[in-house]
Amino acid sequence: MEIRLRTDADMPALLAALKATHEVDKYPVLPNHVTREWLLEGDDGMAWVAEDGADVVGHVAVAETEEDPDSLSVHRLFVRPSARGHGVASALLTTVETYARLLGQDLFLEVLSHNVDAIHLYESRGWFRAGGYTAVWAGPDGNHAEINLFAAPHNDPTHVLRLGSGRPTE
Ligand SMILES: CC(C)(COP(=O)(O)OP(=O)(O)OC[C@H]1O[C@@H](n2cnc3c(N)ncnc32)[C@H](O)[C@@H]1OP(=O)(O)O)[C@@H](O)C(=O)NCCC(=O)NCCS
Repeated sequence: MEIRLRTDADMPALLAALKATHEVDKYPVLPNHVTREWLLEGDDGMAWVAEDGADVVGHVAVAETEEDPDSLSVHRLFVRPSARGHGVASALLTTVETYARLLGQDLFLEVLSHNVDAIHLYESRGWFRAGGYTAVWAGPDGNHAEINLFAAPHNDPTHVLRLGSGRPTE
């Protein structure tokens, strides 16, 4: 398995993997978010894919954190369901963590409460919960998702993110 920078040629395989991920994990929550636009949203082009032979099996992106330009956020981490449990997400996360450490920046991510595999993965890698809030938007079931903020193991533990206005914090 190889981690390399994402290219435009990866999009069809990534969208197929994202569709399968939505069906299994409700990630993304809404079916109409299984699009190129959603996948690229908020990322400034810094993104990697995991490749197994000729197959693109996973993706992660990183971008400036909306609420704090001095830190980075992980975006759009997912692994095709048939490729899970072999360390693909761990390898993708290691890549992003190394990138942030080289830039000397703290690294955050947001994860919905129902994405329990992802939360387990972050906690097992030493990420720690740094807050949370209830989404202002409702999912297809009418419920407002609980969003958890996690901080990378290398973060300054006193670095608190001020979550955006209009987003109720705890
Ligand atoms: C969360 C997610 C990315 C994890 O992907 P993954 O590639 O299966 O993750 P990994 O293989 O790196 O780690 C998962 C487990 O496999 C184990 N593992 C790692 N290397 C392994 C190997 N060589 N062989 C077998 N298992 C291995 C890990 O220890 C971990 O086990 P754990 O249950 O004890 O934590 C995936 O489930 C997913 O795409 N979920 C939906 C999308 C999502 O929620 N994204 C998060 C958005 S914030």
